[in-house]
Amino acid sequence: MALAIGILGLGYVGTTTAACLARDGHFVLGVDINPEKVAAVAEGRSPVREPGVEELLAQAVRRGQLQAATEVGEALARLDMVMVCVGTPSRLDGRLDLAHLLEVTRQLGRGLRQRPRDRSPLLLVYRSTVPPGTMERFVLPALERTVGEPPGRGYEVAFAPEFLREATAVRDYDQPARIVIGERERGASQRLLGIWDHLGAPVFEVPYAVAEMVKFVDNSFHALKVAFANEIGRICVARGIDPQRVADIFLADTKLNISPAYLRPGGPFGGSCLPKDLSAMLALARECGLAVPVLAGVGESNALHLAWIVARIGELAPPPGPVLLVGLSFKAGTDDLRNSPFLALAERLLDAGFDLRVHDPDLDPDRLVGVNFALALEHEELLRRRLAQDLAEALEGVRLVVLGKEPDGLRARLPRDLPVFDLGRLAGVAGRR
Ligand SMILES: NC(=O)c1ccc[n+]([C@@H]2O[C@H](COP(=O)([O-])OP(=O)(O)OC[C@H]3O[C@@H](n4cnc5c(N)ncnc54)[C@H](O)[C@@H]3O)[C@@H](O)[C@H]2O)c1
Repeated sequence: MALAIGILGLGYVGTTTAACLARDGHFVLGVDINPEKVAAVAEGRSPVREPGVEELLAQAVRRGQLQAATEVGEALARLDMVMVCVGTPSRLDGRLDLAHLLEVTRQLGRGLRQRPRDRSPLLLVYRSTVPPGTMERFVLPALERTVGEPPGRGYEVAFAPEFLREATAVRDYDQPARIVIGERERGASQRLLGIWDHLGAPVFEVPYAVAEMVKFVDNSFHALKVAFANEIGRICVARGIDPQRVADIFLADTKLNISPAYLRPGGPFGGSCLPKDLSAMLALARECGLAVPVLAGVGESNALHLAWIVARIGELAPPPGPVLLVGLSFKAGTDDLRNSPFLALAERLLDAGFDLRVHDPDLDPDRLVGVNFALALEHEELLRRRLAQDLAEALEGVRLVVLGKEPDGLRARLPRDLPVFDLGRLAGVAGRR
């Protein structure tokens, strides 16, 4: 169905969106406070350099499907949807400047007061990148104050982050990896009235803050990837190794490297290889005289994560607890204690004054050999006095279960009202009654 759509902000995002929506058969009104951009769009010229956009704008203007103005004004009464694409630049303190976004929001609020009551609710779709909490804490209250009524009857509000990249913006608009729609309540965005149905991309309809956060996470990850790859590249070059050959082989592993593996929030990393080989990589960088802050920060980040978990456990069950930690070896199915994050966690909890019990069906202290035998001696208190192989005994008087790993069938054997902190998911804290 052809809609009348207002686009507020004719920068890289707004102009591309206007061009693509007009091409798809909608009537588009582009609005910007910059009269030069407005004049350009009104004549079918692109105010930004973006392959393919100018052609689409020119065709849309010729067909009478695209107009431009310096304010949305009375046209708001005739629109079905408004997309907010104004800039949210960085402030000096690193936070995003929401001034344009909130100014536009107040303008929309005032305009909505004049909108005929018999029209269907105007759908306001925010596309500018904003920090999580912006819609709930700033946009919705500002709208409610200026319109004089909450969303629902006269207007509805969605947040749909934009993922396009400059220079490939039209292609990215047409082939999104996924569409994310933050909404006030399930179904409220009416799947954005079908404007992207033909794209066939998976759609995630989620609370506002999830959608807001996803955009931050994407861009942080992309930046991290570039910095990581470049640090590896510098080390390779310093050692006379072809960085692209290394990258080719690294990228060919779609099982562990380019995959969801190791990318879910959960427990700290540990075990016999990751900490050891990361340290060796840092030593190599030092030998090459290279600073590699991304790689160097990884260990510190891991240590901070462990400290955060200890603090979180203290909030959930203040010391002395008692607390039961399930899992001491570094992961399920092994009795390897080397660099186990759970061994470190257990020691931290003891230091913090917790009455700690430990249960680990993978671990028999009498059968440990080599380094693990030595570790058992070093952590005798834990392995001889705190480890209870019988789950019922381990659970006696416990106020919180911390799941480092989850042996088969364990959940079903826990009392239903006992709070569980599942480190594998960083979730699930309340009792499950
Ligand atoms: N550029 C990208 O590749 C990209 C990709 C995805 C998301 N984003 C996000 O989308 C948003 C827009 O990015 P952009 O690069 O298009 O920004 P931009 O700076 O190119 O354009 C923003 C436009 O908003 C206009 N504007 C400001 N106040 C206005 C008002 N009150 N009414 C109407 N127009 C107003 C400005 O004049 C400007 O033309 C930002 O939040 C950005 O982070 C950008």
